[in-house]
Amino acid sequence: MTRLHPINLLVTGGCGFIGSNFVRYWMRQHPESKVVVYDKLTYAGRKENLADLWDSPNLSLVVGDIGDMDAVRRACQDNAIDLIVNFAAETHVDQSILGPLVFTDTNVRGTHVLLEVARELSIRLHHISTDEVYGHIRDDHQSVETDELAPRSPYAASKAAADQLVQAYAITYGIPVTITRGANNVGPYQYPEKAVPLFSTNAILNEPIPVYGDGLQMRDYAHVHDHCTGIETVLLRGIIGEVYNVGTGREMTNLEMVDIVLDTLDKDHALVKHVTDRPGHDRRYSMNVDKLRALGWQPQYDPKQAVAEAARWYAENRTWWEPIRSGEFREYYEKQYAERLAGAGQ
Ligand code: NAD
Ligand code: TYD
Repeated sequence: MTRLHPINLLVTGGCGFIGSNFVRYWMRQHPESKVVVYDKLTYAGRKENLADLWDSPNLSLVVGDIGDMDAVRRACQDNAIDLIVNFAAETHVDQSILGPLVFTDTNVRGTHVLLEVARELSIRLHHISTDEVYGHIRDDHQSVETDELAPRSPYAASKAAADQLVQAYAITYGIPVTITRGANNVGPYQYPEKAVPLFSTNAILNEPIPVYGDGLQMRDYAHVHDHCTGIETVLLRGIIGEVYNVGTGREMTNLEMVDIVLDTLDKDHALVKHVTDRPGHDRRYSMNVDKLRALGWQPQYDPKQAVAEAARWYAENRTWWEPIRSGEFREYYEKQYAERLAGAGQ
């Protein structure tokens, strides 16, 4: 990989799942670079995700909201930031169905504030978007970057709005931006509200696995490491103003994913319970990733390996997730699953 000149990054949402994996990866690959993590530390943002790195002179933390323009501007000016990488977001579809407004506050307005600061201070912005902006994809298609956006959940709609604001700023003001649209990521430090960590930790605890509807929905479960190398590729070699899909280009059904989790953890498949479906559940996501491959990137993991490796990580790192599952997470779990599991079928 080409070496960058020393560069100062503001990584928003760097204490979350993908952000913390990206910070760890980036610091290893670019030891000359300085990284400032800017994070509100919501329930999903955990300082301990980077516990091994806080002693580094090249890493610091600013606790703040991306919607706070003065605080974002100050963090950029104080640290001579030349690149903002925006991971900060509310990220869970089910939470967006229970309480959607914070998704607009952070994902739309927060991204807008970052764009304003980037414009004012002439800073490049790389925005992390998602395959969910394309909406549900019919069986004979893979989304390409020029497809129309057709989001269907409050989460996806807020991400689509952010994605389009970033593109609008590039067109209107000519500010240097790039966007990556990631597939469903799996790997270390993913908050256990998402399917793979939820199913893995439930299986380890011998609790039921709540599969929404028939479980035949399709997702591209990509290893977070490959997302990080994809973002790095775009930061180093991407064309300014362009959008790049990042995934494996291969999907599996949720039932196939559950089988991998249960087989990896050597657990009984009778734990699977089919529960009431998520409203508006997107049936299939699928992306064509040729544009990123053309920059020389390729994924290291196939989706089956990625899911199995993630499940193993939860088995080996109980000290990370046990305190989460016994804390505030319980209240959410009750709200989301108690009734569903009470009426569950096999
Ligand atoms: P996450 O929920 O694990 O982490 C989000 C982080 O953002 C947390 O550290 C949180 O504290 C921080 N944050 C939230 N609101 C904030 C605010 N107002 N100001 C500052 N910080 C705030 O999320 P993730 O799964 O790591 O996702 C990171 C990004 O990648 C998001 O933009 C998400 O939309 C996108 N994405 C995620 C996936 C996936 O599978 N998880 C796939 C594609 C794209
Ligand atoms: P999730 O990890 O929430 O990602 P997304 O909805 O953003 O793709 O869910 C992945 C898939 O797993 C999705 O099809 C919904 C399904 N799912 C369940 O069947 N049960 C669950 O409890 C959860 C959280 C998800």
